[in-house]
Amino acid sequence: MAAIAGLQAVEILDSRGDPTLRVTAVLDDGSMGEASVPSGASTGIHEAHELRDGEDQRYRGKGVRQAVVRVEGEILKALKKRKADAQERIDETLRRLDGTEHKERLGANAILGVSLAVARAVAASARLPLYAYLRRLAGKEQEPTYVLPLPLMNVVNGGKHADSGLDIQEFMVLPVGAPSFPEAVRAGSEIFHALGDLVHAAGQSRSVGDEGGYAPRLERNDEVFALLERAVAATGRTVGRDVVFGLDAAASEFHDAKERAYILKAPSVTLTADRLVALYAEWIGKWPVKTIEDPLEQDDWDGWTKATEKLRGLGVQVVGDDFFVTNVERLQRGIDRKCASAILIKVNQIGTLSETLAAIELAQKHRYGVIISHRSGETADTFIADLAVATNAGQIKTGSLSRSERVEKYNRLLAIERELGENARYAGASALSV
Ligand code: PGA
Ligand code: ZN
Repeated sequence: MAAIAGLQAVEILDSRGDPTLRVTAVLDDGSMGEASVPSGASTGIHEAHELRDGEDQRYRGKGVRQAVVRVEGEILKALKKRKADAQERIDETLRRLDGTEHKERLGANAILGVSLAVARAVAASARLPLYAYLRRLAGKEQEPTYVLPLPLMNVVNGGKHADSGLDIQEFMVLPVGAPSFPEAVRAGSEIFHALGDLVHAAGQSRSVGDEGGYAPRLERNDEVFALLERAVAATGRTVGRDVVFGLDAAASEFHDAKERAYILKAPSVTLTADRLVALYAEWIGKWPVKTIEDPLEQDDWDGWTKATEKLRGLGVQVVGDDFFVTNVERLQRGIDRKCASAILIKVNQIGTLSETLAAIELAQKHRYGVIISHRSGETADTFIADLAVATNAGQIKTGSLSRSERVEKYNRLLAIERELGENARYAGASALSV
């Protein structure tokens, strides 16, 4: 097998116009692989550390020149001549070289860029599509059917991702009744445009938030459901059968630690965890909400156990994002305490491909749902599309049906679906861990 010959990094821009890294790995057989690193806005406090330069003037402190230096200096020195297909050993070396719990020293962005770029270079060297190589790494080569994920499409943006004034960060449509992945994408696109017509007719702007969903200014969070219902109906589809809804509350963002309460603006109310869960239950009673991510803040383990029991009892998937941060230790603790029924997987929350695959494996072993996810700050890189198919994750969250950095992931999945032909099966509703 080829060995690592070179690593280059470039400071590029993400979809918000902030700096991030693009890493190129070169192998001694001439194969190359490139990967760009995403970046969150509503980041969890337990996430791996993103190394930023912190200078006052340059890019408002967000430059990543130090991370570039780490990749081309220290990291290259440690990995040069190493067998490129030994992904676990490479990732272990990166972790050891860093030496900190949250990858503060080298930066999880520097580490992740290298980890993913090396995997791409090996796939190129082996002349395999990325998903096929990742499937091998995930130990799933023997599974005959490739699962194309149910997309959780974020068509209305709130929280930190838009100026809509909505507390709930993401309102999603899930085309559970579509007969195939391409038909699911079509449903999403048609609903997105129907929703745009409704937003426009209400005298609101059709401009979009960070993840490509509309950001109408509404007085109440629950007004969105009526809009979604009308948009779905306008496409000739049936709400509850063809399309269901999902939320990412990202509740840590509106949780006040001092008050020990959740402070909402639309409308203005202060709620305990129990009252917040009761509000979700009220919405679930009126609309087909089938998945809720981060319903409570990231450290309320007891609250999560209670909320999970209650929401699952109502037929809803409970997803841990900031709560699990793609971390096997937090996930195991959640499994032990019966917290959540699914995990959101973000490669940069943990910082290496191997640790990402380990989190997916642990979740699947315990029948937790797995949702491969983008970040609010993205690039054109489509790695997560291949990762979703490779691991039979069953669900993907990659934003709305606009903004190229979101749409590119759907486009990559459409191409994979075509390539796999008969070997591909659309997950549909079966993927939800309710
Ligand atoms: P982030 O948001 O990328 O800004 O963290 C995405 C999410 O919360 O799912
Ligand atoms: Zn989230």
